[in-house]
Amino acid sequence: MRISAIFVFVAVLILANSAFAASQKRGGWLYEKYCISCHGQDGSGTPYGKELFFPVKDLRPNYLLTSDEIGFMIRYGLFERELLGKGETLTDRDIDDLTAYIRTFRYIPNIKAGRRLYLRLCSICHGRDGTGDKNFVTPNLKESMISDIEMTRIIRRGRHDTAMINKRRRIYNTEIADMVNYILSIREKQS
Ligand code: HEC
Ligand code: HEC
Repeated sequence: MRISAIFVFVAVLILANSAFAASQKRGGWLYEKYCISCHGQDGSGTPYGKELFFPVKDLRPNYLLTSDEIGFMIRYGLFERELLGKGETLTDRDIDDLTAYIRTFRYIPNIKAGRRLYLRLCSICHGRDGTGDKNFVTPNLKESMISDIEMTRIIRRGRHDTAMINKRRRIYNTEIADMVNYILSIREKQS
């Protein structure tokens, strides 16, 4: 009885795993067909993509975006950008497979570079140590409990009606990943 339960469990794991691998493989094929010319082999962007008036975004730090966010941008494109909505050409499955493939790209954040950027771009409102500034009504980033994904979303989109304006156009995705990891590193550890 127990052994067969373990067997079923292992079989399900293997099947789920191979379904995921197949999805990634198919995604890789679609990526080469539709995306590689701008986004490049490793997701960091081709010279062509980087020279666009609004350059490509680096897809390597994609762990800071949810699959829904990635899928949404592939489906609908981005307004006035070269990333055209592919909802007409691609099926739901294509979009899921492309997202699975994009998930294979990796970026290792650089906390030191993140600290330098933070001091340059954020400390004026958030304070050099991240504890906030009364004049700007900024929250204490050391005590903030929001996740890295949520933090990324706020940096990219801003917060409506506050001094936290969106910075998506001005900061590279790799720089956001560096800063987010710096902010996580200065958080007071909750025990
Ligand atoms: C003609 C060039 C071009 C092609 C082809 C292209 N993209 Fe893009 N893509 C862009 C540009 C430019 C941006 C950045 C737009 C902006 O935010 O200013 C972008 C952004 C993105 C983003 C959002 C990244 C982020 O961090 O905001 C995703 C996801 C993406 N592309 C996926 C794809 C996928 C998947 C394909 C293939 C189906 C594809 N792109 C094809 C130019 C392209
Ligand atoms: C002009 C001032 C200003 C600048 C510059 C600024 N912020 Fe903010 N930020 C704010 C304000 C004000 C809030 C609070 C918004 C609110 O009330 O929800 C905020 C909120 C945030 C939050 C949400 C924290 C939480 O727990 O809710 C994060 C994360 C954040 N900022 C990161 C950054 C980063 C990273 C930079 C640098 C790239 C930056 N900010 C630059 C003013 C600023």
